[in-house]
Amino acid sequence: MPGSKPESGARQTQNQASDPSRIKRVRPHARLEAAERRPSDPKPSQRPNSHQAGAAAVCLADFEPLAKKRLSHFAYEYISSGAADELTIRWNREAFDQIRLRPKVLVDVEKIDTRVTLFGQEMPHPILLAPTARHRLSHPEGEVATARGASDAGATFVVASLSTRRLQDIAPAAKSPLWFQLYDLRKERREFVRGVVKEAEQFGCRAFIVTVDAPVDGARNRVQRVAEQLPPGMETPYYQKANAGAGVVLPIMGSMGSFTWEAVEWLLSVTRLPVVLKGIMNPDDADQAVRTGAAGIIVSNHGGRCLDTLPASINALEPVVQKVAGRVPVLVDGGIRRGTDVLKALALGAKAVLIGRPYLYGLAVNGAEGVAKVVNILREEFQMAMALTGRPDIRSIDRSVLWE
Ligand SMILES: Cc1cc2nc3c(=O)[nH]c(=O)nc-3n(C[C@H](O)[C@H](O)[C@H](O)COP(=O)(O)O)c2cc1C
Repeated sequence: MPGSKPESGARQTQNQASDPSRIKRVRPHARLEAAERRPSDPKPSQRPNSHQAGAAAVCLADFEPLAKKRLSHFAYEYISSGAADELTIRWNREAFDQIRLRPKVLVDVEKIDTRVTLFGQEMPHPILLAPTARHRLSHPEGEVATARGASDAGATFVVASLSTRRLQDIAPAAKSPLWFQLYDLRKERREFVRGVVKEAEQFGCRAFIVTVDAPVDGARNRVQRVAEQLPPGMETPYYQKANAGAGVVLPIMGSMGSFTWEAVEWLLSVTRLPVVLKGIMNPDDADQAVRTGAAGIIVSNHGGRCLDTLPASINALEPVVQKVAGRVPVLVDGGIRRGTDVLKALALGAKAVLIGRPYLYGLAVNGAEGVAKVVNILREEFQMAMALTGRPDIRSIDRSVLWE
């Protein structure tokens, strides 16, 4: 789109990002380059190879081959793989590709406003970073770099229980609020989890995500085939107290099969923060989640990493939205790679979306800058898709934007 004002070489802060006057016009990629440069940064010609590699990426798919070159074989297999035959991974993408868009022309799209509010938190755009384990596999700074990159792009970052850095290090790097993900709420772990909950609250996390779709591990054949294991020193302080270093053999989590609705009630009794259940595909489960007191739902098949042959999460979204009937916000993740995917998800009733693998590849390619660039590209594509379909703000996105 013509007429864009690049942001004068400064990084985009949370405040800037949420200022609608700053998000009104898009000029793809030129602005990204400017937005990423800090005054203290070396000139492009002096930058290390990682930056040059990151600069070559113009869409989310470009980051994967770049990341593959930088990651260990184990790390690449761990991040990119899914369960069993990886049919669900494939379907997550194919389902988005099959949805077609219906444009509306001659609408005033001079200003595009992507702001959304979730649980009282205003966000400059509806793209969040999904909880993903072990960021130090992708970058030495791990979740600290992710938090910095997320903030620079105005994205809320959901820190995983399997984080390899502590909140005392992550929180100061984050200018956008963090959320925190919990896995295992079995009775025998509650004393430990209560401590984690308190720590997350103390460091300003604004919501808890409870992942409910992984009571046991999926058949992660590609990871099983790799002879390597987790590198030494890869501690996960919010999941295992002991050092999860060399010699720890996947499966990663083991069984937590006795984790039921009662555990969600327990969590609700020990925190006042919103509790959001992640990994719901069945509308009846969504209904029970709302009745139990969940503040939100994430429709997700765990990026195809748990139960293979689950349908695409975008195909599961609408029945869940219908069942929930506006009682709580519904979010979705799985296979979101394009701004048009974000538009489609919102058209089908999602309030926001999360991405997983793409930002891990960004992290591997270029640390915090890579994470920010992934989010910024997706956001700019989303703004373009809104403009090109005649939808100037989030409220104007509904099912009529789909070609059916
Ligand atoms: C390497 C990796 C680790 C993950 N770890 C977790 C986790 O610890 N907790 C969780 O709830 N989901 C986890 N997920 C799933 C993501 O939260 C998210 O549902 C999924 O990545 C979305 O699909 P996408 O990668 O296609 O965007 C992980 C995904 C990946 C790729």
